Amino acid sequence: MSSRVQAVRGMNDVLPEESARWAFLHVRARQVLQAYGYREIRLPLVERTELFRRAVGETTDVVEKEMYCFEDRNGENLALRPEGTAGCVRAGIEHGLLHHQHQRLWYSGPMFRRERPQAGRYRQFHQIGVEAYGMAGPGIDIEVIALSARLWQKLGLRGLRLQLNSLGSETTRYQYRADLVTFLQRYHDALDPDSQRRIATNPLRVLDSKVPATQAVLSDAPLILDYLDKAARSHFEFLCRGLADLGVEYEVNHRLVRGLDYYTDGVFEWVTAELGSQGTVCAGGRYDHLVEQLGGSSTPATGFAIGLERLGLLMKAQEMSVPDRAPQVYFCWIGDSARVVALREGERLRSACPNLRLIVHTEPMGLKAQLRKADRSGAQLALVLGENEEAAGGVQVKSLRGDYENLLVPWPDLVTTLTSRLGVEPSDQTEGLF
Ligand code: HAM
Repeated sequence: MSSRVQAVRGMNDVLPEESARWAFLHVRARQVLQAYGYREIRLPLVERTELFRRAVGETTDVVEKEMYCFEDRNGENLALRPEGTAGCVRAGIEHGLLHHQHQRLWYSGPMFRRERPQAGRYRQFHQIGVEAYGMAGPGIDIEVIALSARLWQKLGLRGLRLQLNSLGSETTRYQYRADLVTFLQRYHDALDPDSQRRIATNPLRVLDSKVPATQAVLSDAPLILDYLDKAARSHFEFLCRGLADLGVEYEVNHRLVRGLDYYTDGVFEWVTAELGSQGTVCAGGRYDHLVEQLGGSSTPATGFAIGLERLGLLMKAQEMSVPDRAPQVYFCWIGDSARVVALREGERLRSACPNLRLIVHTEPMGLKAQLRKADRSGAQLALVLGENEEAAGGVQVKSLRGDYENLLVPWPDLVTTLTSRLGVEPSDQTEGLF
């Protein structure tokens, strides 16, 4: 036997059982996004490396050590996208979507970061991202947070906590950074080596450290909220009041600084205690300078992204059931002429009843073995077509689950029998968009 090729570490297959959860999540997310007037944008997985250097920031972990970069055959330096905001802004500028306009956009798909894989942290992971452009007031920040809260409610998720902070303006951060550096230098020796290094490169990120010794030092660190100017303070206060007014509970987390450089003003994360150290399932905030920084005209912006793997893990931890997508009917047949009829009648059933989930058996096999397969598929009904049924002009409907008697049903009555037994709508009213 030849040796097997294994999947790349941190890049996971989503198997059918798991993908049902993902499909459910996508359908619910689409419903919520449409309810707020957000429109989908589909973006490439590969962008110029420079885009992320300029957008996410040279000294961030993502750019410094986590990007998958490669040189294209023509010498261009390209990267697998580590996140979606930069590409969304790039596309918005390129197609004139942002200039003097209000835009509400969303995207979904895989992102790539070469992090150390662990539960909830992967090298290929998936996000649903939401971005709103052209709106400077805190109303839109309240909207995107309310949207995310509605999604948790729609999914039936419990126990997610909203954490808020404000990073203020550039001047705020400049002044705060200077004071924070002075503070951190005073406690230099008590910090972990990574944090010591960050004092020079990205001191705000020290606030994010999970190392207990560093956290102990940070309990006395200056608070960025004390540095906000009048405009930033009033933006943040309005945001907090607006959320309270909508009944969205939050807590202020002074250490919330985010790992990407483009943020300004209000930032937030939705966290759960049920996923260990990778408990942030959704994160975002305002990034008012990024559009200009990437060559567009000055455009306020805000948004967030949800980590789908983490949401999936949380759904599993909370034992949430997702709609069953098993086939409902399994069509068995005996003999070559019955196979032709089964394939033809199968197509007819799918045309007449697009919501029906039907498997038509395809390989020659004894009836007993076919019925075993039918049972294992999870179907509720089996159709059996043999010589007798063919001669009688119909098919046998056999109950695999539940207490119904087996019936010989003439072909013209089959759709009615199946739809009434299974409770499916014969018409083409798909419950979602997938
Ligand atoms: P982020 O905080 O880097 O923000 O990622 C958002 C979410 O993606 C995280 O909260 C987490 O749930 C998930 N995530 C990130 N990295 C991984 C990973 N290695 N494995 C599994 N899940 C992960 C952004 O990406 C921003 N673009 C969000 C944003 C949009 N801000 C404004 N607009």
